[in-house]
Amino acid sequence: QATHKVTVLPGDGIGPEITKVALQVLEAAGKNHGEDFKIQEHLVGGAAIDATGQPLPEETLAACRASDAVLLAAIGGYKWDSLPSASRPEGGLLALRTGLNAFANLRPAVVLPQLADGSSLKREVVEGVDIMIVRELVGGIYFGQPRGFSANEHGHKTGYNTMVYSEPEVERIAHVAFDAARKRRKRLCSVDKANVLEVSQLWREVVTRVGKEYPDVELSHMYVDNAAMQLLRNPKEFDTVVTGNIFGDILSDEASMLTGSLGMLPSASIPSDGPGIFEPVHGSAPDIAGQDLANPMAMILSAAMMCRYGLNLPQVADDMEAAALLGLLPKWTPRIRGLVLLNLLVLLVATNWVVLRDTETFFDA
Ligand code: NAD
Ligand code: IPM
Ligand code: MN
Repeated sequence: QATHKVTVLPGDGIGPEITKVALQVLEAAGKNHGEDFKIQEHLVGGAAIDATGQPLPEETLAACRASDAVLLAAIGGYKWDSLPSASRPEGGLLALRTGLNAFANLRPAVVLPQLADGSSLKREVVEGVDIMIVRELVGGIYFGQPRGFSANEHGHKTGYNTMVYSEPEVERIAHVAFDAARKRRKRLCSVDKANVLEVSQLWREVVTRVGKEYPDVELSHMYVDNAAMQLLRNPKEFDTVVTGNIFGDILSDEASMLTGSLGMLPSASIPSDGPGIFEPVHGSAPDIAGQDLANPMAMILSAAMMCRYGLNLPQVADDMEAAALLGLLPKWTPRIRGLVLLNLLVLLVATNWVVLRDTETFFDA
């Protein structure tokens, strides 16, 4: 029996509610396979600001570094929205990602057949969608320098950020994406804005170069505006997608709508070595926190991704995913309603026929 050290960061809003559910599923699935989890909870985000003044206390980062994996729910809320960037709950999450160098963020968006009618798009558009978005997580405009506020020559206040990628940063995420595509349907679409941005021209050049090492993977490039449209027009054209930090943030929330709910999407944030961070794509949903309305699926599936990619426990991950799917009873969709009515009709005709036949036999006799 092995023990796995997991640092759990419930965070803010719906975080604690969905964490509770995910840990129950994790422990039950672990028990099935004789795997034991040593769970230690720590503070991050708004909860940490309230208790310590810092969104990512030293002690939390140290605990994360010393563990086998980090399971994070969500951070943020109205209460902390007027703080300066680095002291906000979001600053704590970003510092955690860079602190562990978790550069590769895998965000799968899979449409389950029983939820295909839950999407705001038509069933035939989304049924069968299975996309893996590989998002670069510790670079780009989120972290580029210089950033800040200043005044322009007219004395107007300005705000600015810098979108920057270096060759090694693009190379390492491209390798992760090609490796992922290789294990899937062998198609990779790199999304950028190379018609306008130098940073994207470099991105495209480096991804193309890395692609030469993967002749079995079909590489295509797409501008992000077109990608946002194609994702809704014909999402099934996508297999694996690789993109930078901000485009990946936006496209993954968009992709969640194919699956029916933002509450469905898990993610894994993987470093080159050391513990990864496993976290839902969604946020702390302050609008529904504390009302028992939060969908825990993304959090359960994130814990399953932790078992698969972070702890090398694929069987525990399989069990957790199967359990999560069992929780989704088929919806009373028009198709199911149609099938049930058809069955009732057939049953009615058949019994009538049997009754009539027997009646005739009776009279014949
Ligand atoms: P959000 O993802 O928290 O919520 C967007 C909408 O989706 C809301 O209407 C919410 O109720 C709904 N939603 C989200 N998760 C859900 C779930 N599991 N079940 C049911 N409904 C769900 O995004 P937001 O409202 O833009 O941001 C709220 C806060 O969360 C902000 O402070 C933001 O910075 C933070 N945030 C944190 C993370 C993270 O921790 N990784 C991610 C995104 C946003
Ligand atoms: C996400 C979130 C974060 C991001 C925020 C809360 C910093 O939106 O994980 O998608 O932009 O990366
Ligand atoms: Mn986001």
